[in-house]
Amino acid sequence: MKIKKSGATYSKITAIGEKVKMLEKESGKKYLYLNQGVNAVCNINLTEVVKLIDFNSRDIQVYQPMKGRPLLKQAINKYYFNNASTIENILITSGGMSGLDLVFQSIDVDKIYLPQYFWGSYMNIIKVRNLRGDYYFNFAELEKNIEQYKNSALVICDPNNPIGDKYNDEKLIALITKLNNIGATVIIDSPYRKVFLDDDTLYESVYNLPNVIIIESFSKSIGLSGQRIGFVHTINQDLNNELAIKLMYASNGVNGFAQILVEKLFTTKVGIKAINNFRLTTTTDIKKNIEFLKTNNLLAIKFYKNSEPKGIFAVVNLSEKELLEKQIASVSLSFFTRIDKEEAEKYARICVSVPHNEFVNFF
Ligand SMILES: Cc1ncc(COP(=O)(O)O)c(C=O)c1O
Repeated sequence: MKIKKSGATYSKITAIGEKVKMLEKESGKKYLYLNQGVNAVCNINLTEVVKLIDFNSRDIQVYQPMKGRPLLKQAINKYYFNNASTIENILITSGGMSGLDLVFQSIDVDKIYLPQYFWGSYMNIIKVRNLRGDYYFNFAELEKNIEQYKNSALVICDPNNPIGDKYNDEKLIALITKLNNIGATVIIDSPYRKVFLDDDTLYESVYNLPNVIIIESFSKSIGLSGQRIGFVHTINQDLNNELAIKLMYASNGVNGFAQILVEKLFTTKVGIKAINNFRLTTTTDIKKNIEFLKTNNLLAIKFYKNSEPKGIFAVVNLSEKELLEKQIASVSLSFFTRIDKEEAEKYARICVSVPHNEFVNFF
């Protein structure tokens, strides 16, 4: 059989996890898994929320509305947009990855620009879809050479994966507005924001710009990566319809159980309590872990000159190999960039969203 191969690769992060599991088995020693990109301080406690769901109802056992459940979209509009948008602008997807794939396939642009340090899957989707990718150096450089991007799309990830840094919101909103105004397509893919930011006004400030597309995921902000659910927001109804058509012929809609679960989390007292508890426990330990890295001169401060370490990731002054010798699984920074890989090899990305005492014990 002949196969059309894309040239994309499986995630190195998963491969590291498998290697470390083997090392753990062979040595009988415990390892700390900081290679992953999920919040692991605690799980979200769904006990009270699932009691509210009638799993026997026809409503969730059969095909769901193609653009997603209206009540879920209403809840998203409230939680993410302070009710400023409308449900017509929101499309439920099977997670952020599916949203990115649908959007990348559907926009007609010269190139898709990624940050210098980027999440590898962006480039793999670009490969699978046979598109053209490129890189921008940082937000300041974007602003300086803004005209160069007018026929392209740019991905903005803040707090960034892999660096875990958070740029100033006012400056970010101004930059996104400028890019929109020159005709560039801005793809905001920032699934780590809602873990940290209570009064986040980014989406509310830019949702109405015609060239801005917001992609979100419930994998990180409420810890539900196994449910495969997220959404895309755009005010461009042509794009919205095209995404829905592609979604239909790729998967025939999004899982009804996942949709009702997230809907109940956002719309009920017990749901909001579960989200708040999850976020509080998670962010408390993340903060302590970042402080610990700073105090012990382990944080690679050169990556945080114009931004703050805020995300669920941080970059440390140790290589993947050095960390592995201390039974800590991480991912070399060189995996996340195509620019100066040799320099990046000296550093590693770690996930700081793990229990503080475990983190301290291993370091
Ligand atoms: C920056 C970024 N965007 C999007 C995603 C996609 O998440 P999901 O497909 O689980 O919603 C991830 C997952 O690691 C990510 O790091």
